Amino acid sequence: MPVLQLESVSGGYGETEILHGTNMVVERDQIVTIIGPNGAGKSTAMKAVFGLLNLTAGRVLLNGKDITNTPPEKVVSLGVCYVPQTANIFPNLTVQENLEMGAFVRRDDFRPRLQEIYQMFPPLWEKRRQAAGTLSGGQRQMVAMGKALMLEPEILLLDEPTAGLSPKFRGEIFQIVKDINKAGTPILMVEQNAKQSLKIADRGYVLVDGQNRYEGTGQELLSDPEVGEMFLGGGRSAAENGPSEERSSGEGTP
Ligand SMILES: Nc1ncnc2c1ncn2[C@@H]1O[C@H](COP(=O)(O)OP(=O)(O)OP(=O)(O)O)[C@@H](O)[C@H]1O
Ligand SMILES: [Mg+2]
Repeated sequence: MPVLQLESVSGGYGETEILHGTNMVVERDQIVTIIGPNGAGKSTAMKAVFGLLNLTAGRVLLNGKDITNTPPEKVVSLGVCYVPQTANIFPNLTVQENLEMGAFVRRDDFRPRLQEIYQMFPPLWEKRRQAAGTLSGGQRQMVAMGKALMLEPEILLLDEPTAGLSPKFRGEIFQIVKDINKAGTPILMVEQNAKQSLKIADRGYVLVDGQNRYEGTGQELLSDPEVGEMFLGGGRSAAENGPSEERSSGEGTP
């Protein structure tokens, strides 16, 4: 049974329908990537899972159980953790406080999990007493993922985890995503760095205008000439060579 399924999901904001019958499946051991143009509804698809959208048709299933239109706090307690595209950390709290915030719905002792997170992200241990907002873009993304992982989720949703990062940090984040998955957490992620993300994905979806345009294994999408032409930079490896800049407000880091 898949860990997560979107079955013909439609919905949007107010009167505006953004998703028009979207379908997605994440199996228990998979990394699944959603790519597509700006405004296609990729982030909206994640919000649909997380109960941040009013769905007008279709169903969202978690481990086969219907969670359509379940409010976010309930969705979290069912084991879905979501790292949004922006504002995904508390910049004025320390790294450790951020991680502890991630565990706020846990009723048990979360300290062993905290140690596991520090083992997964060694730079966070070194900077645990520093305000998270002073870290580099890549390390802030580690804080955001670590915070979500504090709950040992059934599935992790990541919205553009490598946005604004330099190629080096991008590579590191993709490696971390692979490691998290190997350690047992299924992942659904949205990515603009389409080629790199499909390389590590078991399955990919190309979302256009709120509908599935293409789908397949990561490899199938990478080798599909139409997908390559329209969504992967026409084979010129734009995804790898495009200009980039590390988005960092951490210039003043001591
Ligand atoms: N909170 C909101 N209220 C109203 N409309 C919204 C809201 N969020 C997004 N939209 C609209 O929904 C559409 C899909 O947006 P969405 O953020 O899902 O796209 P996306 O595929 O994630 O794009 P991007 O690659 O730019 O992140 C866009 O037309 C956007 O303007
Ligand atoms: Mg988005």
